[in-house]
Amino acid sequence: MFPTPIGLYLGLFLATTNVFGTQVTDVQGPAFKSSLVGQTIHNLTGIVTAKGPNGFWISGAPVADPRVSNGLSIFTQDASVIAQVAIGDMVSLSGRVAEFRSNNSPDDLTITEIDNPTEIEVASQNNAVVPVIIGKDRSPPTQQLSALDTGSDGFLAVPNNSSRIDITDATLQPDKFGMDFWESLEGQLVTIPKPVALDFPNSFGEIWVRGDWAVTGLNSRGGLTITLGPDGRPDANPEAVIVGRPLDGTRNPKAFLGVGLSDITGVVAFQFGFFYVLPLSAPSIISTPTADVPVTTILSSDTDECTLTVGDYNVDNMTPRSPTHVNGVAKHIATFLRNPDIVFLQEIQDNTGSTDDGIVVGNLTLSALTTAIASISGVRYDFIEIAPINNEDGGEPGGNIRQAYIFKPEKLQLVSGSPAGGSLDSTAVVSDVSDGLTFSFNPGRVDPTNPAWIDSRKPLAAAWQTTSGHRFFTVNLHLTSKSGSASTQGDARPPVNLGVNQRTSQIERVSAFVRTILAEDTNANIVVAGDFNEYVQTRSAFTSLQDILFEADEIAGVDPVERYTFLFDQNSEQLDHIFVSNAIKGRGVDVEHIHVNNWANATTVTARPSDHDPSIAEIHLC
Ligand SMILES: *[C@@H]1O[C@H](CO)[C@@H](O)[C@H](O)[C@H]1NC(C)=O
Ligand SMILES: *[C@@H]1O[C@H](CO)[C@@H](O)[C@H](O)[C@H]1NC(C)=O
Ligand SMILES: *[C@@H]1O[C@H](CO)[C@@H](O)[C@H](O)[C@H]1NC(C)=O
Ligand SMILES: *[C@@H]1O[C@H](CO)[C@@H](O)[C@H](O)[C@H]1NC(C)=O
Ligand SMILES: *[C@@H]1O[C@H](CO)[C@@H](O)[C@H](O)[C@H]1NC(C)=O
Repeated sequence: MFPTPIGLYLGLFLATTNVFGTQVTDVQGPAFKSSLVGQTIHNLTGIVTAKGPNGFWISGAPVADPRVSNGLSIFTQDASVIAQVAIGDMVSLSGRVAEFRSNNSPDDLTITEIDNPTEIEVASQNNAVVPVIIGKDRSPPTQQLSALDTGSDGFLAVPNNSSRIDITDATLQPDKFGMDFWESLEGQLVTIPKPVALDFPNSFGEIWVRGDWAVTGLNSRGGLTITLGPDGRPDANPEAVIVGRPLDGTRNPKAFLGVGLSDITGVVAFQFGFFYVLPLSAPSIISTPTADVPVTTILSSDTDECTLTVGDYNVDNMTPRSPTHVNGVAKHIATFLRNPDIVFLQEIQDNTGSTDDGIVVGNLTLSALTTAIASISGVRYDFIEIAPINNEDGGEPGGNIRQAYIFKPEKLQLVSGSPAGGSLDSTAVVSDVSDGLTFSFNPGRVDPTNPAWIDSRKPLAAAWQTTSGHRFFTVNLHLTSKSGSASTQGDARPPVNLGVNQRTSQIERVSAFVRTILAEDTNANIVVAGDFNEYVQTRSAFTSLQDILFEADEIAGVDPVERYTFLFDQNSEQLDHIFVSNAIKGRGVDVEHIHVNNWANATTVTARPSDHDPSIAEIHLC
């Protein structure tokens, strides 16, 4: 028995279970979640727009309100039910409204759907199926993801997870917020014209893309860089969308940064932490960027006594047991960075790599690297490291990753007279016999027993003197990782940026150390560089460094969109930074990020020795 008109009225407002005469747009409504959850809808009509292994999608009559989607997922895993409909069929069906979470992860948003449809009737066939053309019919906002990302650092603000979309369930603002925009198309068939890949595919073959619509943060390779937007808040690149596994079982091509794809038509869904377009069929590659990565224009400065070239490279768990890996890194340093005077390295593993055997010294790893560089370029580097305590510094178990320096001994040397520090020795600034500044342990670790460094790499500090007698100080960092963070489009707002509290404390420890040098000499030459595992747009983490050190990119005036060393999900982003003291800033700095790894293509990606790009800076000590 269907309800009478009075029953319908009660059905809507008193949540009895049977509703009749409802449209798809009534089910979707203007908010994240449906107000009709739990109700059984009868005679819901729409045109079938797509079919997949978990049901099909229909498109109902649209309404003018851009917040309200007229697409809907009809969930069933019964192949015989799916077989009853074809794309283009006008159908009528009944079923219960549900909000479904894709992988049962509490950080995922839900999809509005009709579960296990019954009473499916096909009224007519071969109706026109018209996708929404993104960039023409509707365009995504380009700055913010969610109204709940309050705070001046937007999606990177702390505290994180201070509110949740699932609970707030605000009505959508699709013109302002990217998550609201994609939600307003949930279940709808859309076309992405002229897609361009923003990253390598993930392990499921899914590809982040932008389409033929206005974007911000566009870099010269075609990616979208995390920058500060015109509103002064971090730009989260909400105009990007991930393309999932094709519904017809075909496979997405092996794209890479900057690849152009054929137009993609598919349905908008939320799964695995993100808004997706699930394509009807796989796109094909129609254009690829050039395979060439330019070598640096910054020349090694062997004969110039004031100038120093400084490399910085996270070499991704480098072990002497992989000559291919070592040779790949050596080639990058020798050929693409043109042998800088000193290179800050991160993720040097011990002599037995990830074998968890108590060995911590990494001199075979480093000598393998310097030998490989010498065999390519004839340039001979020395190296220094401080081995960590076994398995106390995080990273791959047994690998004991640490920072190290390689340097040209004919250009610079450690200031002599201080012992090398052990893993627990805290170095401090002191005056030496010639009344010059040096470190009590050289090299030495910065405050290594401070809780900020628990289960993380301790900074490696060193005091140097060039052959011409100029001193400078370095701190080589590798801050605690972001791994385990929430997805940028998850339920928790702002997203959980794992380890940000610890990274903030770690930067504070380093800032305190740098202040002790500056307290002795405001004109000290100081370089702090490495893998910070954080973007400078997370300004709260970098506050303590402000005013005492300056980022090379900023001094050099590098276009903000070209400041990236890493690709993750939809973003080109900078995790690796070179900061210098005021004295160095005053003499001008040049810096380049050499995209030897992130400009890899489908063939070369498997051979890249690291997922970070190296950087190189030219600084002047006098
Ligand atoms: C509703 O759907 C049922 C089952 O398909 C059908 O018998 C009935 O006529 C429909 N009612 C209306 C008003 O369309
Ligand atoms: C981030 O969220 C996690 C989990 O909700 C919480 O434990 C942590 O304290 C938060 N950290 C920051 C910096 O907001
Ligand atoms: C956010 O906080 C809620 C409740 O405090 C918690 O259940 C959820 O797991 C948190 N989300 C993340 C991503 O940590
Ligand atoms: C990838 O780069 C290599 C080396 O530069 C080149 O030989 C190859 O043709 C490129 N492949 C693709 C798919 O672009
Ligand atoms: C590595 O260090 C050990 C002592 O810890 C030393 O015996 C060995 O000669 C060193 N090897 C190289 C290649 O530096």
